[in-house]
Amino acid sequence: MVLFYFFVFSVAVTIYIVYYLLSKNHDYWKKRKVPHLKPSLLFGNYKETILLKKHQTQVAYDICKQFPGVFESREGKPSTTNDFVDLILTWKKNKVITGVSLSNEKTGAKKELTMDVDDDLLISQCVAIFGAGFETTATTLSFLLYEMAKNQDAQTKLIEEVDSYFEKNETIEYECVNELPYIAACIDETLRLYPVLGLLTREVMDDYTFPTGLRLKKGDRIHVPIYHIHRNPDYFPEPEVFRPERFYGDAKKDIKPFTFFPFGEGPRICLGK
Ligand code: HEM
Repeated sequence: MVLFYFFVFSVAVTIYIVYYLLSKNHDYWKKRKVPHLKPSLLFGNYKETILLKKHQTQVAYDICKQFPGVFESREGKPSTTNDFVDLILTWKKNKVITGVSLSNEKTGAKKELTMDVDDDLLISQCVAIFGAGFETTATTLSFLLYEMAKNQDAQTKLIEEVDSYFEKNETIEYECVNELPYIAACIDETLRLYPVLGLLTREVMDDYTFPTGLRLKKGDRIHVPIYHIHRNPDYFPEPEVFRPERFYGDAKKDIKPFTFFPFGEGPRICLGK
């Protein structure tokens, strides 16, 4: 029994030491003056929520509350970070943002809109971009690596493409995407199999009858099943198979419009697309 307690104690101490060593230099975000929470042992960033001390929205709000400090610390000073916060701080200087509204589907009319810029607006932009852009990209890259591990041929071809790119170039620029069509095809095939948002939601703006006779009424809420469409064998034969060649070279032209849309479609298409 003593041995058992000793074992449990040793495991607990080891976990604590590993946690301490990993988290003691948790200053990545701090150094970059980006609001953050310090993760706690076992609970990560959700300690307060899991212990029912705070609602999740309050935790998010606490992070948001740190943004004005970030804005103040940077305002007027050229920041070397050159990130999204720097970008939106330029709006703050102008006090208002002006833009053109989405066009009215029927009349095509567009309106000029103006919004006052305050901290709440800037904070909500930071949170929206972070929420929409971070997890989506991370999840897609994780699935890409997973498929690369399972498909050695695709992995070899991808590595060859990267090697031949670096024989001609020394740096990675945004434009290099055009010179790496196989990687692009692997990413597309990953997004086909694992679209981060498996369905889109829309509200019907006007009564509409499909050629099949299916009728939609104004105000109906509909779900567009992206995941299901991406795995439909009529559009993608052997849909469960990871095959980047579907998106490579001329084959890409054979993909029917609106059968592959991991970033959505229409006026609300993903900003990151
Ligand atoms: C693999 C990466 C990503 C995927 C799969 C993805 C997917 C999507 C999807 C499916 C939508 C909904 C579109 C619709 O309703 O038609 C969307 C919206 C949006 N995405 Fe992304 N996204 C990704 C990356 C990003 C990034 C990097 C950003 C920001 C830099 C971003 C910002 C947004 C925003 C702001 C919206 C809302 C657009 C609106 O409602 O007008 N996304 N995204």
